[in-house]
Amino acid sequence: MGRVILVSSPKGGTGKSAISRHLLVCAQTAGLDAVGVDFDPQRSFSKWASAREAQRRVRFPDQIETKVYEATFKDWRSGFVQASGASLGIVDTPPNVESAVSEMGQMSESADLVLVPCGCTTDDLDSVEPWILALQSRGVKPIVVLNKANSRVLSFKKIRSRFLAIGEVCPVELPNLEDFHTFSAAGMTLLDTQKSRGRDPVIDLWQFVSRSVGLVPA
Ligand SMILES: Nc1ncnc2c1ncn2[C@@H]1O[C@H](COP(=O)(O)OP(=O)(O)OP(=O)(O)O)[C@@H](O)[C@H]1O
Ligand SMILES: [Mg+2]
Repeated sequence: MGRVILVSSPKGGTGKSAISRHLLVCAQTAGLDAVGVDFDPQRSFSKWASAREAQRRVRFPDQIETKVYEATFKDWRSGFVQASGASLGIVDTPPNVESAVSEMGQMSESADLVLVPCGCTTDDLDSVEPWILALQSRGVKPIVVLNKANSRVLSFKKIRSRFLAIGEVCPVELPNLEDFHTFSAAGMTLLDTQKSRGRDPVIDLWQFVSRSVGLVPA
């Protein structure tokens, strides 16, 4: 069985899909047989993968290939079978965890790693903190990934301290960079260009998560 990374956060727009896409491209680039699984009915992850495949066929034949399956909470085990059938499965989920508390809980317990992307505002904290505590009460050890972060400002340090007081925080935070969203429209990531300033933190995040699940990058 392969490893599964679940990306979950009750707060919308915290970067679940963006992080899922980037980790999938990192994993494929490292030579792993990785797949994405998209549980969000809005299908941001799988639509991105379709756009990527279309671009790859027409314009960028050398671009790293990705495969993203669509799944539903009703049949979450099938989605998990697809994720764990590869050497690494990256599972993107929707923000409305309340509508599938039981399924999300079971999926979190089944995953090798649960990443919880979070912005660096009090609103993000207020939404995400109860979810961290709920996961912990099930024996899961989620790791908060601070996203769209400005590590120099006081609010970032305060939010980080609050999360450190209750659980684990990823040592890599992702800065707020245009490239994260501008590249995604064409099914790309900022890893598909050598020029982006965002490459280093994304690669650092990949190093962290791949080691956390016991995969040493090729
Ligand atoms: N570090 C970042 N810097 C700049 N933009 C970012 C960053 N991370 C994500 N984004 C952008 O922010 C928007 C929201 O991100 P994304 O869609 O990944 O969030 P999400 O948590 O999946 O949202 P939802 O809860 O609606 O599924 C997207 O346009 C994405 O490209
Ligand atoms: Mg999303």
